[in-house]
Amino acid sequence: LEKSAADAIEALTALVPDFPKPGIVFRDLTPVFADGSALRLVTDALVEPFRGRVDVVAGVEARGFVLAAAAAYALGVGVAVIRKAGKLPPDVISESYSLEYGEATLEVQPHNLPSGCRVLVLDDILATGGTLAAATTLVERAGWTVTGVSVVLELDGLGGREALPGRDIRSLVVA
Ligand code: PRP
Ligand code: ADE
Repeated sequence: LEKSAADAIEALTALVPDFPKPGIVFRDLTPVFADGSALRLVTDALVEPFRGRVDVVAGVEARGFVLAAAAAYALGVGVAVIRKAGKLPPDVISESYSLEYGEATLEVQPHNLPSGCRVLVLDDILATGGTLAAATTLVERAGWTVTGVSVVLELDGLGGREALPGRDIRSLVVA
């Protein structure tokens, strides 16, 4: 039987209790990134629902960058980086948010891409949705449109989907 992206994710994801804070079960996807066939299966599955409707792939720092670069290459488009605050030179727009185990600010440079450009937003994990809500808000504030959101793993029961109303969200595995 052919191995699916979901099989590879389930086989390779490591569960780390009490990281980075007590009470958090951290889902470590670095073994998926480290496995060449898993990374290819995952990348292809992330982009497949949106093929033909994407002008640029946006990745959320840091784990989203790995996926965004692979996905952009697969689609033959470029990458937009959505970075943690203070890393991108001006001009930038910013959004602050909370995530499962903290708070942060994301930034984007609106000037690199034309307005109306269609963006697929990628990240590894959808937990509370704080990160991807801020990321998709930034994409729209930049004047671009969100084609959809694709994640490797969606954590059930943390309200991630509810934080992103009206978005076309695809996840390869729900846990
Ligand atoms: C992690 C993960 C997602 C986010 C999901 O990123 O990669 O971006 O948390 O959580 P949420 O749905 O509750 O917002 P983190 O901020 O730990 O950054 P990293 O990729 O730099 O490790
Ligand atoms: N980002 C937010 N919650 C997470 C978790 N439980 N594991 C890995 N990354 C996360």
